Amino acid sequence: MSGLIPTELHRYSIRDVVRGLVAAPKLVDARATISLPELGEGISIRSARAAVIVALKALGLPPGSRIGVPLYCCPVVFKAVKAAGCVPRFLDIDPETFCLSPEDLRAKRSGIDAVIAVHMFGNLCDMPKILDIMDGKPVIEDCAQSIGSKLDGRACGSFGDISFFSFRSGKYLSVGEGGALYSGKADLRARISELTDALPAPSRAEELKHVVTTYIRSKLRSRPWWGLVGTRIWAVYNKKTEFADKSPIVVGRMFASDLATVRKRMPCLDSMISSQRAHADYYERNLRSGLGLLCLEGPRAYYNRFMYPIVFPSTAERDKMAAYLRGRGVGTSRPYEEAIEGAAKHYGYEGDCLRAERALRRALIIPSFCTLKPKDIEVITRCVNEGHISPD
Ligand SMILES: Cc1ncc(COP(=O)(O)O)c(C=O)c1O
Repeated sequence: MSGLIPTELHRYSIRDVVRGLVAAPKLVDARATISLPELGEGISIRSARAAVIVALKALGLPPGSRIGVPLYCCPVVFKAVKAAGCVPRFLDIDPETFCLSPEDLRAKRSGIDAVIAVHMFGNLCDMPKILDIMDGKPVIEDCAQSIGSKLDGRACGSFGDISFFSFRSGKYLSVGEGGALYSGKADLRARISELTDALPAPSRAEELKHVVTTYIRSKLRSRPWWGLVGTRIWAVYNKKTEFADKSPIVVGRMFASDLATVRKRMPCLDSMISSQRAHADYYERNLRSGLGLLCLEGPRAYYNRFMYPIVFPSTAERDKMAAYLRGRGVGTSRPYEEAIEGAAKHYGYEGDCLRAERALRRALIIPSFCTLKPKDIEVITRCVNEGHISPD
């Protein structure tokens, strides 16, 4: 299993360590900005989860406000909504995009005070429709997975009142931690700056620890260590850690080391997206039809293809494929399946997002990140096609 291909890119080289160590002694200025594709300057923050809290506060939503959020989502968003003193209200998805369903939003609109439109897997929500349905109620865009994606030629993050991005390892820029908040509205931007000004900066000791742990974690999440020990450590962590204790939230400023690496990597974003788009294109042309539902790019869209999900006809078929691929050195993931139970137990989910549940139970992510070689993509394609016809 030493060659097991991971599904996420965790990229942190010795050069990144050195850059991080050089940057670490400088405390991050709360107003440090990050240039975001086609948007301009975003305000840096510790993480996207911290950005959710700041965004809800900046919008002046009182405690107890009901925030619409898709069930098909990284559950740390539910946690952040609650940490901001608000209440998540769950919305169903459009199975073709994995993003929130405008129809369900319309049906539930009167019961929510604001919405977080999560652009899942690099796909985009139908923002013009969502803005129309919300009719002036606040709209936040979660661009954690969708940096560089566009709809109708317009960049994600430019539609809502506030948007936020993530640079955590495993995401596109994969720098350790880090996020950015953006608003095109001067009053909201000023309020975000006020709130981020008041946040604590990491100490120098925390910076150093962060650089070292990011390096070790990234190694464990990459070849060959992912197959040798990483998957086992990850499985033990997941088994031993309660849903509610996973993904802690620190509301603070960004690490100086992460900021230096984001600024270094951002100019490479377009070429990373081109590679991932080429991988998605290859899969679309070469994966056997009848396998399951592939995630296609609509005519109005330009997706960054952050992740490549396949939705299988049943959970059993999905799990059989995952086991088959694992046996052939291809890692897969089944993201956020725990969101269904976790949302019901901790955040009041009432079982009314059946399309999201169905997709959560049947979707499988195959590796498609930008540093995979054409040979890797061919091997993955062949294995998926063979797994589809294999009787066992
Ligand atoms: C859709 C989505 N939103 C928000 C987050 C939170 O981002 P971060 O890890 O930077 O807090 C993540 C990932 O963790 C995510 O996938």
